[in-house]
Amino acid sequence: MTTDHATPTWWRHAVIYQVYPRSFADSDGDGIGDLPGALSHLDDLVELGVDAVWFSPFYRSPMADAGYDVSDYRDVDPIFGTLADADALLAAAHGRGLKVIVDLVPNHSSDQHRWFQEALAAGPGSAARARYVFRDGAGDDGAYPPNGWQSVFGGAAWSRVPDGQWYLHLFHPGQPDLNWENPEVRAEFEDILRFWLDRGVDGFRVDVAHGLVKAVGLPDQDAAGGGGPMWDQDGVHEIYRSWRKILDGYPGGRIMVAEAWVSPPERLGRYVRGDEMHQAFNFEFLQAPWDATRQREVIATSLATTAAVGAPTTWVLSNHDVVRHATRLAGPAGAPLHQGIGAADPHPDLALGLRRARAATALMLALPGSAYLYQGEELGLPEDVRLPDEVRQDPTWLRSGHTIRGRDGCRVPLPWVADAPSYGFGPGPSSWLPQPDIWARYALDRQRGVAGSTYELYRRALALRREYGLGTTGLIWLDLGPDVVAFRAGTVLVLANLGTAGVPVPDGVAVVLASGPLADDGTVPTDTTVWAR
Ligand code: GLC
Repeated sequence: MTTDHATPTWWRHAVIYQVYPRSFADSDGDGIGDLPGALSHLDDLVELGVDAVWFSPFYRSPMADAGYDVSDYRDVDPIFGTLADADALLAAAHGRGLKVIVDLVPNHSSDQHRWFQEALAAGPGSAARARYVFRDGAGDDGAYPPNGWQSVFGGAAWSRVPDGQWYLHLFHPGQPDLNWENPEVRAEFEDILRFWLDRGVDGFRVDVAHGLVKAVGLPDQDAAGGGGPMWDQDGVHEIYRSWRKILDGYPGGRIMVAEAWVSPPERLGRYVRGDEMHQAFNFEFLQAPWDATRQREVIATSLATTAAVGAPTTWVLSNHDVVRHATRLAGPAGAPLHQGIGAADPHPDLALGLRRARAATALMLALPGSAYLYQGEELGLPEDVRLPDEVRQDPTWLRSGHTIRGRDGCRVPLPWVADAPSYGFGPGPSSWLPQPDIWARYALDRQRGVAGSTYELYRRALALRREYGLGTTGLIWLDLGPDVVAFRAGTVLVLANLGTAGVPVPDGVAVVLASGPLADDGTVPTDTTVWAR
């Protein structure tokens, strides 16, 4: 069975590849990836065998948070190219049968957005301020923030403007939160959706989808309970229902995927009810430790909670915000995801991490539903744990007073060619984050056509997934022991060995894919996944 790009349900089992534009490919040698660079590598993504590409933000931005601070939602930042480049990229992707999802950042704009500049100029009580969350301060002269909310990047979630008022920013001060109680804000984003839908995009990844609506009265954390007064408020769902109506007016199956860090899983299920979003990232799966019991549990719970609302499950192991899974899975279970790893910290074993990452990916790509890949994981790239602190750019590092390193280690530009300047990332010798020497061994040209390479494992897994209709089938659990995750998906038997002893392949089937070498006696060794038929 093949993925049918013409059907409006393509997304239910699609494999979607995340491009982080500044680190994917640089066409002009300034050391920052761009849209023409991405276009020049689309054929590589076709060869890899993905169905769709999600592009992290490429809009106009002063880059306080690498483009997640948007100053113009309808234009491309000059460092990435032009609107014409975006149109060309979209056409080129469609011409190759790839769907395109763009990032939508509705929780906050940039402080350089025209609206925020107008709000600053217009003063307290103005209509321009009502597009954001401005409040008077606490204390006699208003010198204290209106409440005790903390920014995700560290420090207070409020900053004071010269006339004495404060504005809310759940993230960086350069990312003022929009006021979603204001109909003007709602109308503006409906128009932005149409702007990109009219250009032909196939969907939106909705940034911080659980944050747009805040609890009435902005109560302090203790008083509100649950996920906190700024997250996962019931009011967000009305927004997504209105967006769904807009998307459904376009042909071809246009989708929304929620970035919502919420729990328990039933709360996430609410984002993918029939009249809301199509998908939500499965961060429970991403965060699950490399432990068979926990893996079985999280897979079963994920399938049950999405089935309850008729949505497909999604699976993801890495993205631009978390320690890459080729490193994470060799580290301590439960280690902080977003905080990075420094040169002086303990470093997880590279070989162990890669073995587990390959096994985890082979497991993931056999599961029912849709899967997300993050650029570079198909090369087996680890987190760059030796990145010098002086070059770090994630605002977390600065805002935490140099205590939390943040996410730069998973954002280092990709190696395409081992023996080229910047490992083929671009024509220039350097890149916005320096690439470590070990990048040479992960370069695409060192892996393409090489039996046993991580790239060829991904390519074969994606080809077989398509051929056997994996992703489209249900799952029947098999009991092959406590340390084994095993199931049947359609005609394929999947066996992931997370224990220490070898596990025999059941009689009557032959291995068609293995994430690593089998033992001499044919058993599946530790940290290895096989597909068999
Ligand atoms: C999301 C993005 C992250 C960004 C944040 C603020 O979590 O994935 O990169 O920093 O939103 O926009």
